[in-house]
Amino acid sequence: MRKRIAIIAHGGAGGLNYPRRRKSGLNKAVKAGYEILRQGGSSLDAVEAAAIILEDTKIFNAGTGSYFNLTGDVEMDASVMTSELNFGAVGIIRDVRNPISVARMVMEKTDHLLLCGENAIKFARFMGMGYHDPKTKEKEHIWRRKKAKCESNYFKKIGDFTDLYGTIGAVAIDQHGLVAVATSSGGINLRLPGRVGDTPVIGAGTYADRHGGASATGHGEQIMRHLIALRAVTFMAKMPAKQAGKKTIDYATKFGCRCGIIGLNKKGEVLCINNTKAMSWCYIKNGRLRSF
Ligand code: GLY
Repeated sequence: MRKRIAIIAHGGAGGLNYPRRRKSGLNKAVKAGYEILRQGGSSLDAVEAAAIILEDTKIFNAGTGSYFNLTGDVEMDASVMTSELNFGAVGIIRDVRNPISVARMVMEKTDHLLLCGENAIKFARFMGMGYHDPKTKEKEHIWRRKKAKCESNYFKKIGDFTDLYGTIGAVAIDQHGLVAVATSSGGINLRLPGRVGDTPVIGAGTYADRHGGASATGHGEQIMRHLIALRAVTFMAKMPAKQAGKKTIDYATKFGCRCGIIGLNKKGEVLCINNTKAMSWCYIKNGRLRSF
């Protein structure tokens, strides 16, 4: 077994419904990613594989099972980044099964970093991704219940009505010491159509550089304001990962940013911390699996 390889994944910093399915989805995701690393594969392949499993699990707020926006559509965000500063993202993409793979294609097949909306969908189709409806009955039910409480059809302040958020994310380090991060989200329930969260914003939901990588989950607007993933990686450059996590979460808490963060530094040390009610996570390091 290679010494430094490791992978960590999270299933969001919102609620902890379906704890068993959450745990088994996360275990399956990190095991799939770890197997790629163990066989000498890249951290990018590992985090994409883990994220795809989480996007397909249906209980997380990413891919199939994403929360609905105010008008009942599912608009998703996703991004990938490597420690070589390669980055790709999609914002408010609809009708695809795995936004994380489209984000990777933006990184590898275009000259750009971020594609949004209709043209992100066109790009996905051009790259061979077929139509997929990511709506689930369960999330539709939540949407109907929450929507019934809204007074207007198009309100200004989302904070009064939105209380459900979540994201999935994965960070891995491969045998060459390259770190990759993948983050994918259905955003916040009842958000305004067209709202882009922190997930596809470089430094906010996702960041990696030669010191390590981090993926954030939680309240997107606050995470963007405080560039939480970048902050975590910047702290990891100066101190052990655990301490960097504590510093980042203390900073977030001070400014009222409700979030969770996972990360790995270049030595493969784990960062995993949150200031929300709950966060589901799982990692494999030195061949040993640990989960929430
Ligand atoms: N962190 C997910 C979002 O706010 O969009």
